[in-house]
This record gives sequence, C-alpha cells and structure tokens, in this order.
Amino acid sequence: MQLAARIRQIPPSATLALNAKANQLKAQGVDVVNFGVGEPDFDTPENIREAAIRAIREGFTRYTPVGGIPELKEAIIGKFQEDYGLGYQPAEILVSCGGKHGLYNLFQVMFDPGDEVIIPAPFWVSYVPMAMLAEAKAVVVPTREENGFKLTAAELKARLTPRTKALVINSPSNPTGGVYTKEELAALGEVVLSAGLYVISDDIYDKILFDGARFTNIAMLAPELKARTFVLNGVSKTYAMTGWRIGYLAGPQDGIQAATNLQSQSTSNPTSIAQKAAVEALKGPQDAVAAMVAEFAWRRDDIYQRCLSIPGVTSTKPGGAFYIFPNFSAYYHRLKVGPGQTPSQVLAAYLLDEAKLAAVPGVEFGEDQCLRFSYATSRERIATGLTRIKEALEKL
Ligand SMILES: Cc1ncc(COP(=O)(O)O)c(C=O)c1O
Repeated sequence: MQLAARIRQIPPSATLALNAKANQLKAQGVDVVNFGVGEPDFDTPENIREAAIRAIREGFTRYTPVGGIPELKEAIIGKFQEDYGLGYQPAEILVSCGGKHGLYNLFQVMFDPGDEVIIPAPFWVSYVPMAMLAEAKAVVVPTREENGFKLTAAELKARLTPRTKALVINSPSNPTGGVYTKEELAALGEVVLSAGLYVISDDIYDKILFDGARFTNIAMLAPELKARTFVLNGVSKTYAMTGWRIGYLAGPQDGIQAATNLQSQSTSNPTSIAQKAAVEALKGPQDAVAAMVAEFAWRRDDIYQRCLSIPGVTSTKPGGAFYIFPNFSAYYHRLKVGPGQTPSQVLAAYLLDEAKLAAVPGVEFGEDQCLRFSYATSRERIATGLTRIKEALEKL
C-alpha cells in the first residue's frame, strides 16, 4: 500500500523502541540494565486499583461523556485550584486517553499548515512528530547546558516570525529534569504576551520535584497568560498509572471544545474504569506520591554524583522528573561514526552491546552531546549501570 505522505515521515517513538529492544534482550536471558524507560518503577497505589475494581463491580462500564465524567473534571478543577490557585470551568477541561493524546488533540486543533510552534531542545520526543502531523512547522530552538538547558527570553525572541503561534514549555523536563524558575517563566511570559503567542505547558512531571521546590507554570503568573496557556497534565507519572491512559488538558474554552469535538470523532471517551481510578488518584491520599518522590530524590543525588565521577562527563543537576541527561561528548572522538549515524547513537549502541546498558541517544531529544538515563529503576541497578558505563568508556 502507498501510505499517506504525512505518515511516511513520522518515525516510531524512539524511547518506546529502545525499551522494546531492552526487553527483548532481557527475554533472551541477557542481564540488561534498562535506563531507557519513561515510567515509574512503582505499582499503582492500592486505593487507586481498588477504585477501578469497584467501578467494574458497580457496572461503570459504558460510554461516558466524551471529554470526561463530571466527577473527574471536578477533581481536576479541584487540583488546579488547590495546588496552583488556577480556576477553571468544566468546559475548559478535556480528559483524554493519556497526556500524549491530549497533546495530539491540541496540536491538531491549534495549527493550520505552516503555523510555527517553538520547541526548545532538548525536547520530549513526541512534540516534533505531533507538529508534523498537524502540518505545523516545528521550530526547534537549541538551549545551552550552562543555562540548565532552559530557553531564555532572548532566544525565544530571536526565533519569532509572523507565523509563530505557540511555544512549548515542559517543566520539569523530559529529558533533562530541568525546572524553570518563576523569574525565567516571567521573562518568557513577557515575550509571549507581546508577540500574542499561545503556550503549551506540559506539566506532566509537576509533582516530581526535588529540594523543596514549589511548582510554577506560566499560567499561574498572570490572568493574561492563563488566557493564552493550555496546560497538559495526567496521572501517568505522578501516580504510576502509565498503563491506565488518563491525561487532561486545561485552557481556553474554544480550544478545549474543538479538541473535545476531535476526540468525539476519534477515540470517544477515555476508559470509564480508568476515569474512576483517576478520581481516586486526585482526591484520595497522596502519601504514596510523597514516598515515590523521596525515593526519586535519593536516586537523583546518587546518579548525579556517579555521572560526575566519570572523567570528562558533565551534567546539569535535575530538579525534577526521573531523568538525567549527561554530556558524553568528551568521548566522541574515540567513536567510529558511520554515515547516517550520530555520535550519541553510536555511543548508545556501544553501551548496549558492551555494557548491556540501555540508554536513549540524545539526538532523539534534539541534543546529540548527551544520553538520557531514566533512574526509574532500583538503587542497585543504578549503581551497577554506572559502574558498567565507566568500565565500557575506559575500553573505548
Ligand atoms: C514530557 C512528557 N509529556 C507527556 C507525556 C505523556 O504521558 P502519558 O501519555 O503517559 O500521559 C510524557 C510521557 O512520557 C512525557 O514525558
């Protein structure tokens, strides 16, 4: 079959592909350390699982309103109000089949062909393909390691054109763990308002924050900014619910209603049972989240120190999420990089082969000098993995 042109250009998700490869090796009995995964290594808390079982027992198994059950929308509105002082109406909320789906819907309704969306690099792997699928132009703007891989107002300003429609902000960041400060967001906010941009604020890691930091997104800074921001969040990362597929968008009603219409013609409602579980996640006890974040914080300290102890390796210190993005470019002159390859791909392939360690090449996130390690794995695996990396690099 001759596939549609817009699909032919879309690569499969690199992170999911790497995870599949690591799992395949594992199934063959190879002792792989998997730093590739983008999901918490914890189980969904018991109270959330029980809520889903209850929903099944009570027969809550039919179609629901397309954009989410009122009870879940209320819980989401409650979270935004209590946690961040942001007020939304039910018509300004859309519940989708995972955060990724919410973003996909938003990109589809936001962009006309040729509209430009600014995507700071390093970026989460799906933003650029989502822009391509919406026939928008992804304007990838490199950021600097010295700035913690965060976009500055000057860098944003320099890339504006009359077609620039939106800016993507992802804080805490996948892949760097970088967290924007209020001041940094305020500086970006000035440019956003003066250029009349929209903001796509991907807050999926909002609760996984270290060092006592308080979460801020750009919508919290001023009502004018809230009126131009679509906030994306979900239960996948915070509540270890990646398989349940519940994400949500909050933002200006016209965009949310259009995204709801799109959803009504594609997936319809997210799973009824998972919606009930998400209500429990948001409204029930939060102590499992605190325990998970405390564990991630310990591992962050550990993996950061271990990375820095490798000669020549530099890294920004992650302030949130569960990734670290160390710079291995000091080793790149020792690699044999063939045509069509980049050094981060060659290094990642070498580590998988030599050290039986899976990590995602930085090029997938738009920054080839680095590799992404997920530390959503045990303390023991982190120690083993870093020892293996060190030994493998010595052999290069
Ligand atoms: C930055 C970022 N945004 C959004 C998502 C989407 O998460 P989900 O679709 O599981 O809710 C992810 C998942 O990896 C992510 O890392």
